[in-house]
Amino acid sequence: MQTKRVRDILRHGKPDETVTIQGWVRTKRELKEFAFMEVNDGSSLNSLQVVLDESVPNYQDALKLLNTGASVEVSGTLVQSPGKGQNIELKAAKVQVYGTSDPETYPLQKKRHSFEFLRTIGHLRSRTNTLGAVMRVRNACATAIHKFFQERDFIWIHTPIITASDCEGAGELFTVTNFDLGKVPLDKQQKIDYTQDFFGKQAYLTVSGQLEAEVMAMAFQNVYTFGPTFRAENSNTSRHLAEFWMVEPEMAFCDIEGDQDLAEEFLKYIFKYVLKTCPEDMEFFNKRIDKSVLETADNIINNEFERITYTKAIELLEKSNKKFEYAVEWGIDLQSEHERYLAEELFKKPLIVTNYPTGIKAFYMRLNDDNKTVAAMDVLAPKIGEIIGGSQREERLDILEKRINEMGIIPDDLWWYLDLRRYGTVPHAGFGLGFERVVQFMTGMANIRDVIPFPRTPLSAEF
Ligand code: 4AD
Ligand code: MG
Repeated sequence: MQTKRVRDILRHGKPDETVTIQGWVRTKRELKEFAFMEVNDGSSLNSLQVVLDESVPNYQDALKLLNTGASVEVSGTLVQSPGKGQNIELKAAKVQVYGTSDPETYPLQKKRHSFEFLRTIGHLRSRTNTLGAVMRVRNACATAIHKFFQERDFIWIHTPIITASDCEGAGELFTVTNFDLGKVPLDKQQKIDYTQDFFGKQAYLTVSGQLEAEVMAMAFQNVYTFGPTFRAENSNTSRHLAEFWMVEPEMAFCDIEGDQDLAEEFLKYIFKYVLKTCPEDMEFFNKRIDKSVLETADNIINNEFERITYTKAIELLEKSNKKFEYAVEWGIDLQSEHERYLAEELFKKPLIVTNYPTGIKAFYMRLNDDNKTVAAMDVLAPKIGEIIGGSQREERLDILEKRINEMGIIPDDLWWYLDLRRYGTVPHAGFGLGFERVVQFMTGMANIRDVIPFPRTPLSAEF
């Protein structure tokens, strides 16, 4: 008999079918002549109801062991369920308990636990409804991302995690060291120059795979990266992680318009795919986490994103009656309160802001003809703020060199990047999507720590 997933049984199971399932007990209810238990196998939000009675050979012994959290294999026949809410249940013929779970100490009880509490038991929290649904939606998002790019002939590039360049120039780097501290006496450890310590050179954990993606776009035209990135920003917000995943497409022969078009098409595609493949999970989020989740998804899929320039955004912010903590004037970096006002209150949908002042953006962005703005674009989403950051890149060697010098970057460190402008340069553009931010946006989860299996933040790295 083939082992089946609970999701498939609930969707397609027929009465009289014989099946075997494997999973973990969510609840057990004992009545006089029989017992019910809910078994969850991670494939679905919903558990399968199993009915057991004396016809199971080890009925009494098994019953004692089948507490919440225990692992079990059940074989039997599917029957029409008389109960409300589900139409099929499993009448057990054979039960095998794999691992018991002491109800006195098992931390997950049949009640609602706070997300703060669940973060303290990161090794168990994915067995709950909400975290389970998050991880399945996260998986569907990742699948959608690969499908989207593969269908469009983009090549997936594995960019390095250890790198010597600070792509964003924001100084938010974690240093990599191979120093064997065990060999250094404690009183000497203070004096080690960790910045020179990757086999005698400086190296960091990558903040972005963009520069390497640009290298590859100059060989393959259209490429994308999808991997972990690291930022040593000491901010404890609900939208920042020290380790997060980023998706970075890079396109040769593309400008800032094409970049915006791709970003919009991309977000629409991911939402559509997740709604199609995870309908139960998305309905759960809509019911239990944020009542606007499905409406938001519908809004993303069916409406065009708003597109405005930075200068226009500043005008709109100045015109609004809202009191911002951070004063608005041309030249400021938009703060999350500004971004959220624009996306959430004013336009009530995703919005693409382009052409930011040169002074607040990275060295690689293409200088516009006005000489004071660059061809940058940020996609801002209601409730989240910035979800995508991108730009057309500076492909003109002389202008790029000037910019690098002005910003105090050592050109020798970027000799290979400058070479791309020396040999067969082309207009090109790309962007970075914060993967956790899109999962947050999609599920309505308030805290970014709850949409990644093992969050790394200044205050929490349990294991
Ligand atoms: O805007 P950022 O810094 O852009 C880049 O790194 C470019 N090199 C991307 C490119 O053009 N290829 O980061 C891109 C996105 C942000 O819009 C945000 O969604 C996410 O990455 N992000 C974070 N997500 C979680 N935690 C953090 N600390 C994040 N920092 C950025
Ligand atoms: Mg950004």
